[in-house]
Amino acid sequence: MKQVTDFIIEEREQRGAQYFTLTLRHPSQMQKIVPGQFVEVRVDGCREVMLRRPISVHDVDEERGTLKLLIQIVGRGTRRLAQLGVGERLNLVYPLGNGFDLGVSEGSRVLLVGGGAGSAPLYHLAKELSHRGVRPTILIGGRNAGLIPVRDEFEQFGDLCIATDDGSLGHRGLVTEHPCFAASYDRIYTCGPTPMMKAVAQSALQRGIECYVSLENMMACGVGACLCCVVDTDEGHLCVCKEGPVFNAEKLKKLWNL
Ligand SMILES: Cc1cc2nc3c(=O)[nH]c(=O)nc-3n(C[C@H](O)[C@H](O)[C@H](O)COP(=O)(O)OP(=O)(O)OC[C@H]3O[C@@H](n4cnc5c(N)ncnc54)[C@H](O)[C@@H]3O)c2cc1C
Ligand code: FES
Repeated sequence: MKQVTDFIIEEREQRGAQYFTLTLRHPSQMQKIVPGQFVEVRVDGCREVMLRRPISVHDVDEERGTLKLLIQIVGRGTRRLAQLGVGERLNLVYPLGNGFDLGVSEGSRVLLVGGGAGSAPLYHLAKELSHRGVRPTILIGGRNAGLIPVRDEFEQFGDLCIATDDGSLGHRGLVTEHPCFAASYDRIYTCGPTPMMKAVAQSALQRGIECYVSLENMMACGVGACLCCVVDTDEGHLCVCKEGPVFNAEKLKKLWNL
């Protein structure tokens, strides 16, 4: 059930110039959060930012009652969030949306493809898959090494591959040009910039691989009330915040001309 809660910032970590993480502690009993779900963050202390900002849940520690967010600084809201420190409060509406389909059998060949901040929910997903006996291949892409916000921490749950446009880390080129992308998989999950997800989904559909895509549309309410995040899918008009953000790529054929 959705909750509005003041979490307490327990830890803040800078990840290069553009990214930071916040570990947030729930004041009492945290709701269950599944990989791919997101929170709507209230940005206090910034008059120009009226609307909450949608941010994926990067990690969850149920025993400690904490969740972690990985945030890229792109505008006024995220710049303000970057100024927050340990001990301060952050008001969240959570958990929101439908997470990734986790119906994979033990030993399945699974690929996760993330671009920039889109790698955020894939960490929680990789952790959950590893608990289910699946060791995924994790392919992370970015323009350069500084824009790859997560690296080594992924290695405990999967085999990490990196692609950068300028070759400053890993394979030079797009994620879809990385040799590990061409391998054979039972399922692909992806989150990141739309052109990247489109290319990943197109290739997956052509190869007959089931593919799940997490859309990052502009959102206002996050709960299906304002209709600003509606997309025209193969199953009609759907709210990304409520019916997504994760969709089977089969439903996006019309939207993306796949
Ligand atoms: C379901 C969902 C999950 C997300 N998860 C994460 C996450 O884990 N980490 C993360 O860093 N970001 C995530 N985003 C994107 C994040 O919400 C935006 O970057 C943020 O709202 C920008 O706010 P701002 O005030 O800093 O920027 P603004 O001043 O509002 O905008 C600055 C720039 O960001 C773009 N932008 C604004 N809102 C969005 C949006 N909703 N989606 C994409 N681009 C946007 C604008 O087009 C503009 O170019 C997610 C978005 C969605 C919809
Ligand atoms: S953000 Fe309001 S309906 Fe989706």
